[in-house]
Amino acid sequence: MSVRSDETFPERASVDYDSCVARVLHIEDDPHSRRLVSKLLLRAGHEVFETESGLEGIRMARRVQPELVLVDINVPDLDGYEVTLRLRSMRELDGVPIVAITAEGDRQTSLAVGANGFVTKPIDARRFAEQVAGFLRGHRESADETGETKLREQSQRIVEHLERKVVELAAANERLEELARLRREFLQNVSHELATPMTPVVGYLKLLLDEELGPLTDLQRKCLGSIERSTRRLRSVTDTLLDVSALESGRMHYFERDYDFADVARRALAQVRESLPDERLTWRIGAMEGPLPGRGDPDKLRRAIVHVLDNAAKFTPRGGTIAVEVARVGAWHELRVADGGPGIAPNAQERIFEPFYQVDGSVTRAHGGVGLGLAFARRVTEALGGQIELVSPPNAPVVGEQLGGTLVKLRLPASGA
Ligand SMILES: Nc1ncnc2c1ncn2[C@@H]1O[C@H](COP(=O)(O)OP(=O)(O)O)[C@@H](O)[C@H]1O
Ligand SMILES: [Mg+2]
Repeated sequence: MSVRSDETFPERASVDYDSCVARVLHIEDDPHSRRLVSKLLLRAGHEVFETESGLEGIRMARRVQPELVLVDINVPDLDGYEVTLRLRSMRELDGVPIVAITAEGDRQTSLAVGANGFVTKPIDARRFAEQVAGFLRGHRESADETGETKLREQSQRIVEHLERKVVELAAANERLEELARLRREFLQNVSHELATPMTPVVGYLKLLLDEELGPLTDLQRKCLGSIERSTRRLRSVTDTLLDVSALESGRMHYFERDYDFADVARRALAQVRESLPDERLTWRIGAMEGPLPGRGDPDKLRRAIVHVLDNAAKFTPRGGTIAVEVARVGAWHELRVADGGPGIAPNAQERIFEPFYQVDGSVTRAHGGVGLGLAFARRVTEALGGQIELVSPPNAPVVGEQLGGTLVKLRLPASGA
């Protein structure tokens, strides 16, 4: 947290000793002390950067290149001695005074780990600015002969601290692995529990709709049509759950046959467009001529492509455009899908391929889905020897359209070249 700072940090200027105005990093977890110190420093004209955590303090020191560091000895995570020891080992802080804020008894240890002096707690508001100015002018204190013993004792405490942390981390890791296993099992159980009762529902619906169980009135047909659409949607969710569960546990089986990449893409496109009212979006369909011979599992490939197209359609607002084309690129067949949707922020671009990750994961979000589409698409594409790549906003036109949302490129090796 910076109390007063520029967005960009200038090269460390030499300290202006006359006015003694400096960039000061203050590491202190107690909000009262932090406020007091920052008030006193600001009043003296200094620029203040502050944080309540030792680890964050080390990161900030690297970033803000302070001219003076004030470190409280009792900060959580790493304590003030550990922070001082670490800061002292950083080349960029050579010559920068580190001042410990301590109780009386901690002084020799502070000096032993590399502090240049201390300010006693509670802080004396009348003397504080002068004490700081002293350190900026070059005042230093040095450890007495007890320093070496203090340093050894402190090193032992640090090793104990480290040991405790390593034990804690190992336990936390074990718990995480257990949770990951439970999550896999849950996914597997839920997908089966949901998928199994779908079989008779789908079967009987078909019998009913085909009038094998007697003629239907118009109203009955309309109702059944609506049930069928909902069932299809449910089915696609359970299929994806089953797929991802199979992928995660390594139980996914792939067929190996010849297919035409252009034909697979066309069928995926037809499938997605069939379930959408046509007036919602403008589709710009480019070259999709085959044959583009490939070898692998065309059914899984079609489903991967459906997920990509489905996202483009889902996230592009009404009246927007989607452009789709298929081409041969060197030794690859490539499908390019560009959309005029909101795009995907850089920090989310890798994460959306993880199972369940959604940029907007809230229950109030505008779009349906469980966050498994791209996880499925990527894993299947890679299992078939291909790659899936995402560029947002698109860096090239698709079917002559330079759209502003997302471009997904799905590439598979060409065969019979
Ligand atoms: N074309 C796109 N435009 C904007 N966001 C997208 C697009 N494709 C995917 N996303 C983001 O990636 C997330 C994960 O996508 P996906 O795995 O298909 O799951 P789902 O569609 O079920 O949410 C989406 O929730 C969305 O936040
Ligand atoms: Mg999706």
